Amino acid sequence: MEYDVIMIGSGPGGYTGAIRCAQLGLKTAIIEKYPALGGTCLNVGCIPSKALLDSTEHYYNAAHTFAEHGIKLEHLQVDLAQMIARKASVVDQTTKGITYLMKKNKIDEYHGVGSFVDPHTIKITKTDGSEQTITGKNIIIATGSKPSSFPSMPIDKKRVITSTEALTLKEIPKHLIVIGAGVIGAELGSVYARIGAKVSFVEFFDSMIPTMDKTMGKELQKVIKKLGADFYFSHKVTKVENKGDEVVVSMDTPKGEQTTLTGDYCLVSVGRRPYTEGLNLEAAGLKTDERGRIEVDEHLRTSVPHIYALGDVIRGAMLAHKAEEEGTFIAETIVGQKPHIHYRLIPGVVYTWPEVASVGYTEEEVKKEGIPYKVGSFPFKALGRARASMDVDGLVKVLAHKDTDEILGVHMIGARAADMIAEAVTAMEFRASAEDVSRMSHAHPTYTEAFKEACLAATDNRAINI
Ligand code: FAD
Ligand code: NAI
Repeated sequence: MEYDVIMIGSGPGGYTGAIRCAQLGLKTAIIEKYPALGGTCLNVGCIPSKALLDSTEHYYNAAHTFAEHGIKLEHLQVDLAQMIARKASVVDQTTKGITYLMKKNKIDEYHGVGSFVDPHTIKITKTDGSEQTITGKNIIIATGSKPSSFPSMPIDKKRVITSTEALTLKEIPKHLIVIGAGVIGAELGSVYARIGAKVSFVEFFDSMIPTMDKTMGKELQKVIKKLGADFYFSHKVTKVENKGDEVVVSMDTPKGEQTTLTGDYCLVSVGRRPYTEGLNLEAAGLKTDERGRIEVDEHLRTSVPHIYALGDVIRGAMLAHKAEEEGTFIAETIVGQKPHIHYRLIPGVVYTWPEVASVGYTEEEVKKEGIPYKVGSFPFKALGRARASMDVDGLVKVLAHKDTDEILGVHMIGARAADMIAEAVTAMEFRASAEDVSRMSHAHPTYTEAFKEACLAATDNRAINI
């Protein structure tokens, strides 16, 4: 078979790009190694983690806040097996939805490992060992990423686990040691802390989510501490050992002393690495960079002009919505359009409760780049809506240019921040000033008023409700 486009990988980048190709009239095939479409995000990432975050948040509220709302419950219990089963059914429905979309858009679906035979030919090796080849005028590599680790922390998938195993545990850990207090650590650490696990975070840097605006990490630590978690910042893990029913984590303290932590599970969440194994890139004349990523230019083209790459397997944030934008971008580039992605305005969200959401420059970045700036902040506890729901933790922080008032960055931690950040993205896409947003009517009482108030504070220290 000959195609206009062959997409290798069916994650959010792959399936979105394939659909856009089909919409633009290109004869398209998609190849996926696993039986279910949807990639990391739908099968072992975004969707299952959010399903467990939602279930455990319900439990936590039932146990800790319902009584104050005047709702009495007796004999509250966690049914972990049911939580995991519900999560599996959400994943199943969602991945089947992608299969439906492939059919609807007349995209040919192949299952098996795709590998280059030459720059235009892809061999598909199925699980039964049988092989088939197809050719493409254009090929898009959308093979995503896998969890990374270090030799000192060998993953055994039983006691020393990655996010994938943490999504299907059969028991609630008594003591979960989380190595890496980044996004996965914060989210999956929250899942188990809410249902009774003792959680200890060991982090190389001096805060949680260290790549986000520093204020967010500090505030997130405060709320996660309320779940009973412990933090070992600026600690360097030297060894992780599975001792049967226990895991022992050895680490160097900031003072250079050695110490250990003993738990029953250890989640290694120290980042993810691009996944190119099995692709046989050499046959296409392609190489990876020093971090294993496929190199692309500003049009997401590799060194071979008809081969493109996107998502987690290339540079940039490892986020589903970034991969999706790139899928659309490549499809439109192939048909000669001139699409654009504003990478600085891709939001980042951590789905803890409260959620953390961020877009644009952090305060550390504006300082480093010498951009003159001013800050406006507003705490959720000053909002009527937040008091009504008892979601009073967190704040919104707006960074605006000191001279022009243009919004440079928005960082929020608070109830529904994940949804609220869309307003900041829209404002920034249209290069709004803080004053522009502060003059727009925001429904009362809503959490979005915190963004308006932070913009008022940034404009001229004019916040009303504080
Ligand atoms: P992937 O989704 O990784 O898909 C790549 C696909 O290619 C896979 O299905 C793989 O099997 C297939 N493949 C690989 N090699 C071959 C081959 N040779 N032949 C055929 N098929 C192949 N991001 C967010 O934006 N929001 C979130 O809430 C979020 N939560 C996450 C939670 C967890 C626990 C994890 C691990 C990740 C999360 N992410 C989240 C990140 C998100 O999952 C990734 O950024 C996203 O999936 C990347 O999409 P992709 O299309 O580049 O690749
Ligand atoms: P991450 O990069 O967010 O965090 C890894 C953390 O581990 C960092 O804080 C880092 O300093 C720390 N670390 C690294 N080596 C260490 C060591 N030896 N000892 C102690 N700490 C160490 O990566 P994470 O959490 O594994 O997630 C991988 C990717 O998946 C992220 O890049 C993220 O983009 C994506 N993801 C996105 C989510 C979302 O959008 N809500 C949710 C989950 C994952």
